[in-house]
Amino acid sequence: MMPATASTSSSLSARWTDLLDRLEAIGRAHGDVALASSLAAEDMVLTHAVFERNLPIQIFTLDTGRLNPETLAMVDRIAERYDRSIQVVRPDPEAVEQYVTAHGMNAFYESVELRKACCEIRKVEPLRRVLAGRSAWITGQRREQAVTRGELPLDEHDPVFGLHKYNPLALWTQEDVWGTIRALDIPYNPLHDRGYPSIGCEPCTRAIRPGEDVRAGRWWWESSDSKECGLHAGNLSTIPVSVVTTK
Ligand code: ADX
Ligand code: SF4
Repeated sequence: MMPATASTSSSLSARWTDLLDRLEAIGRAHGDVALASSLAAEDMVLTHAVFERNLPIQIFTLDTGRLNPETLAMVDRIAERYDRSIQVVRPDPEAVEQYVTAHGMNAFYESVELRKACCEIRKVEPLRRVLAGRSAWITGQRREQAVTRGELPLDEHDPVFGLHKYNPLALWTQEDVWGTIRALDIPYNPLHDRGYPSIGCEPCTRAIRPGEDVRAGRWWWESSDSKECGLHAGNLSTIPVSVVTTK
């Protein structure tokens, strides 16, 4: 799954230096900034930068209750490697219980509405809670990842959560990410070696086959222009009309 490094070591090192400069500037501008980590490869690059450089940026992950054990295990691996902990944010247990009672544990397969309702309870509300009162957050999104991210800016106002949003890896390629992980020996989720370039909740993510789109394994039963879970709903307003399908 991990591509061989196409980037040269000098272009990788320029990317890395630029990233550190950006993160330092973000930390200076926003004393309350937090990095949202899905514990996947991109976020491990950002985590490495924050912890190795001791940057004033908090890190949290949204434990939806439906993550793969391999993904959750990354929380302990981070603690072992960097001797620092990240905040684990969980959904409201009552809201989860109500959804499961009303619709069933895996109702997200039945309709986009029920899928979005599950994401709202397990991801979006906890994110709203952890972002409340902050002036900025950081994500590991990249333009290459999806049609919904093709115009992703490095720096934007987040209209959904009402604060500044930074996407410092927006212009990074998959090769940049994996070249950096290899060069700096950054720990990563072992699922990436088993056909998962993009990792979300266990029941909503599958391995992809060679040649498939990197997000083909996310919510694979839905059309590609709806594949945002609400964390990045603002992206849906920037999809070029030419790629929006009516399904
Ligand atoms: S998703 O919206 O489709 O699930 P994706 O997996 O591509 O997002 O990750 C994009 C960015 O969203 C990550 O780099 C991270 O900043 C944030 N993110 C996604 N899932 C989580 C999570 N469970 N906890 C914290 N941040 C997350
Ligand atoms: Fe629920 Fe799937 Fe969304 Fe996870 S990705 S919160 S399991 S619908």
